[in-house]
Amino acid sequence: MAKVRVRDVELNVYDQGNGDPLLFVHGFPLNHTMWQQQLKMFAETNRVIAPDLRGFGESTVADGPLSMEQFAEDLNGLLDTLGVEQPICYCGLSMGGYIAWPFLQHYGPRVGSLILCDTRSAADTNDAAENRRKLATAVLKNGSNVAAEGMLPKLVSPPTLKERPQIVDSLRAMILATEPASIAGALEGMAVRPDSTESLGEIQVPTLVIVGVDDELTSPAEMSSLAGRIPNSVFVEIPGAGHMSVMENPAAVNEAIGRFLASSP
Ligand code: MLT
Repeated sequence: MAKVRVRDVELNVYDQGNGDPLLFVHGFPLNHTMWQQQLKMFAETNRVIAPDLRGFGESTVADGPLSMEQFAEDLNGLLDTLGVEQPICYCGLSMGGYIAWPFLQHYGPRVGSLILCDTRSAADTNDAAENRRKLATAVLKNGSNVAAEGMLPKLVSPPTLKERPQIVDSLRAMILATEPASIAGALEGMAVRPDSTESLGEIQVPTLVIVGVDDELTSPAEMSSLAGRIPNSVFVEIPGAGHMSVMENPAAVNEAIGRFLASSP
């Protein structure tokens, strides 16, 4: 791991391997370790870059709202600082996907291919935004465990929740290690993010869309419709997995990513 100064923050970054660059962008309120099973495998064939976003993991704690635009700017600055000149494969899960939209909008030429896991292009409904603000208030008052207890049952499939404590404990630990201010900041940033559905038709790069069959937060139906709007896309459903498909069934996810990378120019 390395600490890399980007704009006004220090980002903690996993940067290993050689070959075509593959950028992994984690979900909320997690950190780069959620990609552990992908990092191990793809560092053998690619340059794998997996940062902790501003406010998360071992990166600088955030203060105030954290917009998806700001995260995208940080990622662009990070790639500059790391001297990445070739087009990357951008792989984001959930909030990592929300950040892909402004990243594509502002730094499109940097993206050679795209992997979208368990995410959506739609903005929050008023109710969803309101719930995020309530959660932010509760977390600031009572701590990150409020987010952990509220979110864990929705992050993984029912069988994972019941029978795979290692995955649940690891997710809980990531959430508890995140400062309340960063959780609240990202909740506000997600609540105000714009709808990106109209821009999906403009994505020209090869795109892989992945979803856990039991994903309750970003359903297979919603992701299938997202994939249907992206001209050059492949849609893959991951069995035995919920929202955290990449942790719950890494073998199937890695197989899909490996096949996609081999077939992308
Ligand atoms: C995530 O996994 O990043 C979150 O579920 C995103 C969200 O809360 O919308």
